[in-house]
Amino acid sequence: MSTVLQTEGLVKHFGGIVAVDSCTIDVEQGDITGLIGPNGSGKTTLFNLITGVYRPDSGRVSILGRKATGLESHKICHLGLSRTFQITRLFWELTVLENMIVPVRKVGLRPLFGPGMLGDELDRAMELLARVGLTHLKDERADNLSFGQQKLLEFAAVLMAKPDVVLLDEPAGGVNPTMIRFIMDLIRSLNAEGVTFLVVEHNMSMIMELSDRVIVMDQGRTIADGTPAEVQNNPLVLEAYLGS
Ligand SMILES: Nc1ncnc2c1ncn2[C@@H]1O[C@H](COP(=O)(O)OP(=O)(O)OP(=O)(O)O)[C@@H](O)[C@H]1O
Ligand SMILES: [Mg+2]
Repeated sequence: MSTVLQTEGLVKHFGGIVAVDSCTIDVEQGDITGLIGPNGSGKTTLFNLITGVYRPDSGRVSILGRKATGLESHKICHLGLSRTFQITRLFWELTVLENMIVPVRKVGLRPLFGPGMLGDELDRAMELLARVGLTHLKDERADNLSFGQQKLLEFAAVLMAKPDVVLLDEPAGGVNPTMIRFIMDLIRSLNAEGVTFLVVEHNMSMIMELSDRVIVMDQGRTIADGTPAEVQNNPLVLEAYLGS
């Protein structure tokens, strides 16, 4: 097994608070790794440090064996890592289909012109929309979709870049149980095709069922790391949740 994502001693302060405090994690290729922890424990900030939204005060990030510390978001995407956001980010006044195409162009993953380019993108976009069940809404504006559909669209758009590693920040947050099942099946089937996942979630039954391995953060640090069963039986984890 090889490590596709590694952080070493990452630190990020916001004024007087330490959001991420000497955080070291690694994610193995082919795994679905859960990342849990109480509110404010630094999970989203860790994602932001990995994906170039913030620069770490210190520490290192490597992605698929390449140095990635402090790189801009589009460069991280080029390395093969993409992510969704805790608060869904879409181009609200654009259509569903446009939301699939525009980020790829923005990131400059492919040349704008060239034989078959638009055709390839369109084919892939339509294929992914079918996969998340949004084909019938392709010409609808993103802001007209339901909350769950918006999350599915963001997920599908992230896949346009053909990432090797996908970071999901609360994919099930505020989503109904049927949709949660659908998202879990989607993660599983993509994983079976070789996509590695790091998933932040507060839905414990989902994370424990889905993950090969679970990392637990508290106050910016990792406090536990193991199989779902190991983590559930770890007194430090219980303490972190009770204390929050
Ligand atoms: N841009 C920011 N400016 C100031 N403080 C921030 C910023 N982003 C995060 N924080 C603080 O850093 C700490 C970690 O926040 P973060 O959002 O990473 O936690 P989280 O584990 O994702 O929490 P949640 O489960 O609620 O999403 C919190 O104290 C938060 O208030
Ligand atoms: Mg968060």
